[in-house]
Amino acid sequence: MISMIWAMDENWLIGKDNLLPWHYPKDLAYFKSHTKECAVLMGDMTYQSLKSYYVKKPMPFKKVYVANINDASYPDATHVKDLFTFLKETSEDVMVIGGKTIYQLALPYADRLYITYILKTHEGNVYFPRFNLGAFRLLTYQIEDGLIFSVYERITS
Ligand SMILES: NC(=O)c1ccc[n+]([C@@H]2O[C@H](COP(=O)([O-])OP(=O)(O)OC[C@H]3O[C@@H](n4cnc5c(N)ncnc54)[C@H](OP(=O)(O)O)[C@@H]3O)[C@@H](O)[C@H]2O)c1
Repeated sequence: MISMIWAMDENWLIGKDNLLPWHYPKDLAYFKSHTKECAVLMGDMTYQSLKSYYVKKPMPFKKVYVANINDASYPDATHVKDLFTFLKETSEDVMVIGGKTIYQLALPYADRLYITYILKTHEGNVYFPRFNLGAFRLLTYQIEDGLIFSVYERITS
């Protein structure tokens, strides 16, 4: 199964340069609880950004895949050069954790979405690509401190 997780504000903002535009401890805890011990897939930019947080300790994932069109190697991750083949053929449960480019490319393959809606606007310059949520059904949502934690699954029938 391919799942995706992200947080966005009312304008679908997700990033500021190569960082998150905000600090919401509750959303970080939610992200951690849904990615801990998972196989995760991210783009090279998000990998570099996360590495700046995990300088001395390992990233808390079971397995890390990093998408990059260029030849690359990572000390703690598996390079994915052919993203579409990977998404089509993987038999693992994979959580896609960003960023914008990889979300956009992986969305057609996603079975489940974990979206945190931030009920305000922030400053930044990277936006989640607009798409129609009509292909997904809302499974659960929870409102806490100005955040809505929502889970969707793709409608298959
Ligand atoms: N709010 C959130 O929940 C959240 C979560 C994660 C990230 N973000 C934000 O997202 C932003 C980063 O997004 P981004 O779009 O700049 O970077 P990104 O998606 O993390 O990485 C883009 C990478 O994808 C590679 N790529 C593109 N097409 C590919 C393909 N077909 N096959 C394999 N690899 C491919 C590119 O390789 P090349 O370099 O070779 O072109 C590039 O290195 C940051 O601001 C970050 O803070 C927000």
